[in-house]
Amino acid sequence: MTASEGEVRRRADRLRAEIRRHDHLYHVENRPEISDGAYDRLFRELQAIEEEFPHLLTPDSPTQRVGADPLSELPVVRHVVPMLSLDSSETEEDLRRFDERVRKAVDGPVEYLVEPKLDGSSLEVVYVDGVLDRAVTRGNGVEGEGVTENARTIPSVPLRLRADRDPLPIPSLLAVRGEVLMYLSSFEELNRGRVEAGLEPYANPRNAAAGALRQLDSRITRTRPLEFFAFDILDVTWTTSATEEGEASAREGTAFDTDEQAVEALRSWGLRLPDRTRKVADIDEAIAYHAEFARDRDDLDYEIDGVVLKLNALAPRDALGSTSHHPRWAFAFKFAPRQEVTRLERITVQVGRTGKLTPLALLRPVEVGGVTVSRASLHNREELERKDVRAGDLVRIQRAGDVIPQVVERVEEPGRARSEAFRMPEECPRCGAAVLEEGPFVVCSNRLGCPAQLERGIEHFVSRGGLDIEGLGSETVALLVGEDLVREPADLFDLTPDDLLKLEGFAETRSQKLAAAIQSARKTELARFIYGLGIPEVGATVARVLAGEFRSLPKLREATPERLEEVEGIGPIMSEKITGFFNDDARAASVDAILSKDFDLIPPPERESRALEGKSFVFTGRLDSITRSEAKKRVGSLGGRVVSSVSSATGYLVRGERAGSKAKKAEELNVPVLDEQAFLRLLEE
Ligand code: IVH
Repeated sequence: MTASEGEVRRRADRLRAEIRRHDHLYHVENRPEISDGAYDRLFRELQAIEEEFPHLLTPDSPTQRVGADPLSELPVVRHVVPMLSLDSSETEEDLRRFDERVRKAVDGPVEYLVEPKLDGSSLEVVYVDGVLDRAVTRGNGVEGEGVTENARTIPSVPLRLRADRDPLPIPSLLAVRGEVLMYLSSFEELNRGRVEAGLEPYANPRNAAAGALRQLDSRITRTRPLEFFAFDILDVTWTTSATEEGEASAREGTAFDTDEQAVEALRSWGLRLPDRTRKVADIDEAIAYHAEFARDRDDLDYEIDGVVLKLNALAPRDALGSTSHHPRWAFAFKFAPRQEVTRLERITVQVGRTGKLTPLALLRPVEVGGVTVSRASLHNREELERKDVRAGDLVRIQRAGDVIPQVVERVEEPGRARSEAFRMPEECPRCGAAVLEEGPFVVCSNRLGCPAQLERGIEHFVSRGGLDIEGLGSETVALLVGEDLVREPADLFDLTPDDLLKLEGFAETRSQKLAAAIQSARKTELARFIYGLGIPEVGATVARVLAGEFRSLPKLREATPERLEEVEGIGPIMSEKITGFFNDDARAASVDAILSKDFDLIPPPERESRALEGKSFVFTGRLDSITRSEAKKRVGSLGGRVVSSVSSATGYLVRGERAGSKAKKAEELNVPVLDEQAFLRLLEE
């Protein structure tokens, strides 16, 4: 090798180390230190070197996460040690019985590590001399499917263990057990994209994650937003051939005294662990932890189905041993299921803002994970046909986090007569206009002429993310449309207090207040106005991007698809929706009519900023005008970061609707609490 090639090799090594460090900071620690642009430059430099000098390429290079050629089938691979299941129950009694059995077998006080039970897909990852060697699904517990290439594409699976500041040597063999899952926000985004593309949505994040993990084509897996959390060392060995004779000495299992130490070792090797792992001194504390998590369950961006208790001391684990099914030193204390079976009473159709007709299942009310559910979406015509559910059928329904309840499947009742299959109407159930078929969707052709579309459109226009008009909720909108006081959105701005007095429930003060609120909404941020128009695909974040880029509504309306696609984050589908919206005569006329009411639209301030540098944010409850993932992106773009639990170091707690215990904790710790509007204002400032 020439001297200059030696230099190139050193440069490549440095780049790999640097990129690995940033990967870890970003994907595991959630606190990036450099911009995406700076990262891309490092990455491209390394790629260029590896292309020019292919012999310098190493299998654990950070460039090697891109996916490989598809396989014809997944190989069967044996686990290092059997991957057992967990003993589990939903009842406190069973949990206490477990604790008694453990205490009988252990001398002295019993401590447990408790952590969330992640509801994803189980995976074993094996490192040989610190380098990712293979990844295997759980399968039957003894053998699973080799999904190494797929696991390589998951950013939180290290391709090489970290050794930097590590007090422990890198093991010669490390087999780790963990869970692969999809964040709810990513899952919803993925499903939105699939539905838009006319594909079947996934039933839940777990199925989506499991399916992606078992793909034959790892390049497909790479496009799926998978996360890996490690929680258990299946096996660890250090082999040193230090002596002249090459004699090997092995340390196994006994390397750690407690699970706490084992988990710390995993963390120091660069693996990501579940949030909020805690050590508890007795079973009552574990029960309190379970209750706390059950309350926060809807706040999390991932699905959990309970909490796991593990005996912290490792030596007594051997004494307790395992059954063929589960170890006797661990227990899953589960939550009430979020799936229930109930009777579908009737199917009806809802007309949305864009005219989409959505079949809706009206159910015999049933409690699912603490919430009463009486209706569930059936998505679209194709979904309805595929699931073939009919009035009178018994159906399985589920809720997942903030996701609207869904009908999972029909529950067979052999011998029971069924009713006729539901047919989507050929006319809009609300206005009687003809419907159009658009892929899997059925759409009312009447646009703002349809009272349902008009109502939904106005609701969106004046919602919190839009003009934010207080006192103009869906009931009032329905009254205004029903009384023929409003035939298009622009009519809102002609309403006088006297007009409003005619509405049911409106007296003097309320009428004056609402009329004044409507008038003052004419001076608003351009971004809110754009969002409020309800252009398909344009949510709060895109609206802000568009407002920043075009800075005036006429400029946005003039933009060609090519010009729109130059904007970061706007692809061909979105640009087509935007130009399509403004080129539609009826929509354009409606926008013109609104603008004729003398609007003052304020563009966002012009500057790049790192205003939130060093500030951390915790979210709780449901946000209205912005998704969690959008909020996260925007905080990140201003230099801040999002973390999942509140501590005294937390910068802000952002509280949405139905906030959980985090809000209380924030107050106790004197962490500033922002509501959604205050949060959006902060981003603006
Ligand atoms: S400990 C044998 N901890 O739950 C004990 N398992 O129902 C080792 N799971 O397939 C597992 N979250 O993959 C453990 N925090 C957690 C977990 C967890 C999810 C999975 C695990 C297993 C399943 C058993």
